[in-house]
Amino acid sequence: MNLEASMKLEMENKTVNASHSLYSSHDFALVSSKLLIIVTPTYSRPFQSFYLNRLAQTLRNVPHPLLWIVVEMSLQSDETVKILRDTGVMYGHLVGDHNVTSVKDTAIQLREVALYHIERHQLDGIVLFADDDKIYSLGLFDKMVEIKRFGTWPVVVLTEDKKRALFEGPVCKGREIVGWHTHQTRLSRRFQIDMSGFAFNSTILWDPKRWHRPNIDLIRLHDSVRVGFQESKFVEQLVEDESQMEGLSENCSRILVWHLHLEAPQLLYPSGWLFERNLEDLIPLML
Ligand SMILES: *[C@@H]1O[C@H](CO)[C@@H](O)[C@H](O)[C@H]1NC(C)=O
Ligand SMILES: *[C@@H]1O[C@H](CO)[C@@H](O)[C@H](O)[C@H]1NC(C)=O
Ligand SMILES: *[C@@H]1O[C@H](CO)[C@@H](O)[C@H](O)[C@H]1NC(C)=O
Ligand SMILES: *[C@@H]1O[C@H](CO)[C@@H](O)[C@H](O)[C@H]1NC(C)=O
Ligand SMILES: *[C@@H]1O[C@H](CO)[C@@H](O)[C@H](O)[C@H]1NC(C)=O
Repeated sequence: MNLEASMKLEMENKTVNASHSLYSSHDFALVSSKLLIIVTPTYSRPFQSFYLNRLAQTLRNVPHPLLWIVVEMSLQSDETVKILRDTGVMYGHLVGDHNVTSVKDTAIQLREVALYHIERHQLDGIVLFADDDKIYSLGLFDKMVEIKRFGTWPVVVLTEDKKRALFEGPVCKGREIVGWHTHQTRLSRRFQIDMSGFAFNSTILWDPKRWHRPNIDLIRLHDSVRVGFQESKFVEQLVEDESQMEGLSENCSRILVWHLHLEAPQLLYPSGWLFERNLEDLIPLML
């Protein structure tokens, strides 16, 4: 058995729970304009609730039909369930069946669960991998509906020492891609692209004939691929070269996504973001 075949079988058995899905594919038939499919892997950490709330509030303001697929490892956490219920955004809440400890790159696995879900339900929309810790301009979602096959744009990344802001993504002339911004010159990646720096038509995943894709292998993110190469390896499966890409926004000059690295690993936060009792240091009101 070759590698591709064994991978496919494994995917077949991957279980996904969509117990809180508030949609059925039937609903989409009634909507005439393009569906946006936003895929967000998430896991519990101090800022998770802040990140998810911020992203939910952005998505709530998107005027296009939108499905937010949120994927968590092992179980649906109460905090995430509550945020999703309150968003007013159409969502699916999926769970990966892998144990966190046994998985090399959690986010890759969780995005995979979402891809499998999109294929199985043959969802037709424009897919964006929107990690919860990034900031998205509303303008991005307006531009996304213009994408036919694959659209890309630059992402601004603040270095972890917060000293420099770097560009990653395409250099464009009009909508044509003419080069790539990069700050990691050591990496010889085909495409210098951020995981949240592109979006694509989901039918490429499940309808290879329509896209004249010669091989019918499933399009996958692989956690066996070295960190830093995963985005490029994935994009190489969606397009042959830059000629099949569209630069979003004229000259790709508008900044639409920011990655600021705000993670605060030592921070303690109250469970459910609720204060059960008052803190000790109260200053009495002077009346
Ligand atoms: C998938 O599940 C079926 C039924 O549970 C089982 O017979 C089969 O061996 C599984 N395949 C893999 C690759 O685990
Ligand atoms: C999916 O849901 C079923 C029924 O509620 C449950 O038995 C199963 O454990 C769930 N699987 C995961 C991976 O959460
Ligand atoms: C994950 O691992 C723990 C400890 O080994 C085990 O108790 C639990 O059942 C596992 N969960 C899943 C979903 O496999
Ligand atoms: C995706 O591409 C197919 C084939 O061109 C098209 O029929 C479909 O409407 C497109 N979907 C979106 C959401 O643009
Ligand atoms: C795009 O770049 C060209 C050439 O530099 C310039 O003439 C044009 O005005 C630019 N368009 C926008 C919208 O910035």
